[in-house]
Amino acid sequence: MKLNDAPGLDRKDLLGLEELSEREIRLILDTAREFREVLDRPIKTVPAMRGFTIANLFYESSTRTRMSFELAQKRLTADSIGLAVTASSVKKGESLRDTARNIEAMRVDMIVMRHSQSGAPHRLAAQIDAHVVNAGDGCHEHPTQGLLDLYTLLENLGDLRGKRIVIIGDIAHSRVARSNIHGLRRMGAQVGVCGPPTLIPVGIEDLGVTVYPTIEEALAEADAINVLRIQLERIGVPLFPSTREYARLFGVTPARLEVAKREVLVLHPGPINRNVELDSRVADAPGAVILSQVTNGVAIRMAVTYLLAQKTMKAAHALA
Ligand code: CP
Repeated sequence: MKLNDAPGLDRKDLLGLEELSEREIRLILDTAREFREVLDRPIKTVPAMRGFTIANLFYESSTRTRMSFELAQKRLTADSIGLAVTASSVKKGESLRDTARNIEAMRVDMIVMRHSQSGAPHRLAAQIDAHVVNAGDGCHEHPTQGLLDLYTLLENLGDLRGKRIVIIGDIAHSRVARSNIHGLRRMGAQVGVCGPPTLIPVGIEDLGVTVYPTIEEALAEADAINVLRIQLERIGVPLFPSTREYARLFGVTPARLEVAKREVLVLHPGPINRNVELDSRVADAPGAVILSQVTNGVAIRMAVTYLLAQKTMKAAHALA
């Protein structure tokens, strides 16, 4: 598919992968493939979104997602602004709705938002006309991370039908796990999860996933593993004895991968807690595609931004 043929997404917002069809996911991945090629060129910009304005609202810390969205917007030649939340009127008590409506009043076309409350982008999307993209909401979803993980898996494994992908770690507090489960299931993969029982949500099997009690059993069957950080910032009371104990029982080490006797692709959304959930020797080995995920993330965010904006851009051009 060539970029100019891309039909655009028939929705205002991207809030989660749960609501996306396989067709929509494939459209985003195909469009990202076009943009991924652009990123390898000496001139990495395309004049696709001139005059389109995007505000980035990050109410929670971020390195990869924030920079990646900002870079994607610049690569598309959109106008991009960021709100430094800690130095904004949010600190004077302004509500999310008021902040967003004021930003929209400045004729902003799209808001990219990360928030610690699950559902915050959904509430915002219902209150404003601008497009809303969820850059991670609480423990709920992180759709662009799920998409870049799908892209990286497809790049390395080909078709995902029949492939087994196991998500290892703190599933209960992970928005990445939830977006991955929805996206992977939609693409026909077999999905497993593995971690301490206190970090596996009750009833997760209802989402169509297998629960592996030990990491050895998970590694023996996995074509790829997505290793997650323990989300200490979201865990109120200790749910496992110590990080040392966690590393002993669930850490992904060279010895464990050797016992698995399979070529296992290793993904991690970052940030890594080295030698806790993932041994440094595994994180830096050729079988790990962690930095490819980051590069692919820029292409995915270009694709999502471009496809969501198609209708708005066409309407604006028709009026011009
Ligand atoms: N993967 C991810 O969301 O990383 P950041 O928190 O750095 O954005």
